Amino acid sequence: MSGHLAVVGLGPGDARWLTPEAQSALDAADALYGYGPYLDRVPARPGQGRHPSDNREEMSRAGAALAQAAQGARVAIVSGGDPGVFAMAAAICEAIETGPPSWRALDVTIVPGITAMLAVAARAGAPLGHDFCALSLSDNLKSWELIERRLDAVAGAGLVIALYNPVSRARPWQLASALDRLRRHLPDATPVIFGRAVGRTDESITVTTLDAADALAADMATLIIVGSRATRVIPRPGRPLVYTPRAATEASA
Ligand SMILES: C[S@@+](CC[C@H](N)C(=O)[O-])C[C@H]1O[C@@H](n2cnc3c(N)ncnc32)[C@H](O)[C@@H]1O
Repeated sequence: MSGHLAVVGLGPGDARWLTPEAQSALDAADALYGYGPYLDRVPARPGQGRHPSDNREEMSRAGAALAQAAQGARVAIVSGGDPGVFAMAAAICEAIETGPPSWRALDVTIVPGITAMLAVAARAGAPLGHDFCALSLSDNLKSWELIERRLDAVAGAGLVIALYNPVSRARPWQLASALDRLRRHLPDATPVIFGRAVGRTDESITVTTLDAADALAADMATLIIVGSRATRVIPRPGRPLVYTPRAATEASA
């Protein structure tokens, strides 16, 4: 029997956001690998091996999953959200590129999921209705200078910006610094959305402005969307609707 590896996106948290394809891949697996809290979201099945690991261990997790698949097993490795967005699919590709030649012959499927950026955007309205980008604020795998250059470039280009990995215990100051950097380019009133634990029971969504945005309001489970000059807020009872119109002019960028 030839082995198979599925890299499965679980979505941001709500079980209704797990796709039928992802559920099938989980059901079919002999063994599951993943960051412990993500694996905890997959109900245990008798006979299915479970291999939780720490969130800093992506490459060893990728290697272990590929090695088991290479022995003929059906293996699934899970990511929160989408596996291709700051997650395991790229780690698997890196491991295949540098690993034993036999791993290249493996049957590998990437099963997409709803990424946090899209879930937070949907809660808020349509902030990603025009051009946007996603940046990770983690400086574990790139320098802070590069992150600042990218923030300058995308804010200057008029893109809405989704910020992943805004803060962690080891990275306490980066979000405040990034918001200050964006304040150099964007008006005080630029809409900012903090989406925390979206799709989970402890979800919270806050709409604020760039001048009032407080980095201390974010934790590891928060995704932040910073609007562009074109992003608008429609006040209404309850939470306002935030959207970026589909059309842009030079003046609105
Ligand atoms: C390592 S990245 C993984 C992203 C994931 N692959 C995805 O597509 O959403 C982790 C970051 O994603 C964001 N995130 C993940 N799940 C979230 C959720 N339920 N609500 C808000 N943000 C979330 C946070 O910014 C968190 O720090």
